[in-house]
Amino acid sequence: MRPVKIANGVYDVGVIDWNIRDFHGYSTYRGTTYNAFLIVDEKIALIDTVKKNFSDQLIENISKIVDPKKIDYVISNHTEMDHSGGLPRIMHRVGEDKPLYCSKMGAKNLARHFPRKWNYHAVGSGEELSLGNRTLTFLETRMLHWPDSMFTYLKEDKILFSSDGFGQHYAGHENFDDEVGDEIMQHAKKYYANILLLYSPLILKLIDTVTELGIEIDMICPDHGIIWRKDPGKIISAYARWAKQAPKKKAVIIYDTMWHSTETMADEIAAGIADEGVSVRPIHIRSSHRSEIMTEVLDAAAVIVGSPTLNNQLFPTVSDFLTYMKGLKPINKIGAAFGSYGWSGEGVKMINSALEDMKFDIIDPGVRLQYVPDKDGLNACFELGKKIGKAIADQA
Ligand code: FEO
Repeated sequence: MRPVKIANGVYDVGVIDWNIRDFHGYSTYRGTTYNAFLIVDEKIALIDTVKKNFSDQLIENISKIVDPKKIDYVISNHTEMDHSGGLPRIMHRVGEDKPLYCSKMGAKNLARHFPRKWNYHAVGSGEELSLGNRTLTFLETRMLHWPDSMFTYLKEDKILFSSDGFGQHYAGHENFDDEVGDEIMQHAKKYYANILLLYSPLILKLIDTVTELGIEIDMICPDHGIIWRKDPGKIISAYARWAKQAPKKKAVIIYDTMWHSTETMADEIAAGIADEGVSVRPIHIRSSHRSEIMTEVLDAAAVIVGSPTLNNQLFPTVSDFLTYMKGLKPINKIGAAFGSYGWSGEGVKMINSALEDMKFDIIDPGVRLQYVPDKDGLNACFELGKKIGKAIADQA
């Protein structure tokens, strides 16, 4: 039930979106939440809003605590519309002339989304806003994951309002990490792999900055999913690990297939990898959402991609996945390609070229087989698997 009290005078007034299953192309089989935070002190501040169609619910939630008109400051940590869509309704209720705090890029980007003359207060890292007994400090987090992104820190309570950072698409009546347990880490990992992976170098820098500044964090409140109150260090350490992209001793084989030939090859490569004692998972692209596959790629040491050749091209779902993966910039991967073909057989070459573009370490030219794999062909797949397995096993 919302609102949720998360500390003295601090509430999550956001909403639960139980039924969303596709979040701009990301699969959200557990739904999500759009968290928004109300801080009631001598002055009252609202941090972020919700998706436009949930605006009424946000206003209802706020009204259970204070009359929205009493809000003194609205803070927008991030312009993306799952957090800003409710701004027009909120500003209308709160008062169109009330100060709207955001980063400098936030002011520009909000103006491009909402052609209204709001009372923007653009802030930079280290600037503060006093609420009377408590203070908010702003920390710009450019490109994590939009140019306008920033965090807001409630100094006295050591609460970090982290926008999308540390979020998870998870809808539930549980509100805190300790109420969900370890299951939440898989949702956080998926979120990282699909939203933040390409910004990993910036995340490492940000973690260093927070450590150097000695910012103590007792609680992290992201805009999606549960709040980290029991062990915020756990998700920060996980981010540091994911950002370094140090691979585990595991391989993923990502493929599509038309008449099961490429699938048979995938299974045989997997058998070769497993024979070297390395964990491996073949994933048929049309049976898994690309955001689920990317979660597996995050900590894999090897990504082996298979495609039939269709009309002199890659199978379209394989192209789709390669395009998606390329944008997320995974690093530290061994790469390899395989596939069956009928008469032209360009698929393997095309995959290798895509993996080279991504700077994967191509340790073998791959295996291409005509029509249905025979015994020798399957043996070549098994040997490819063994070579990859050995390379992973030998990694430090
Ligand atoms: Fe949850 Fe970048 O929006």
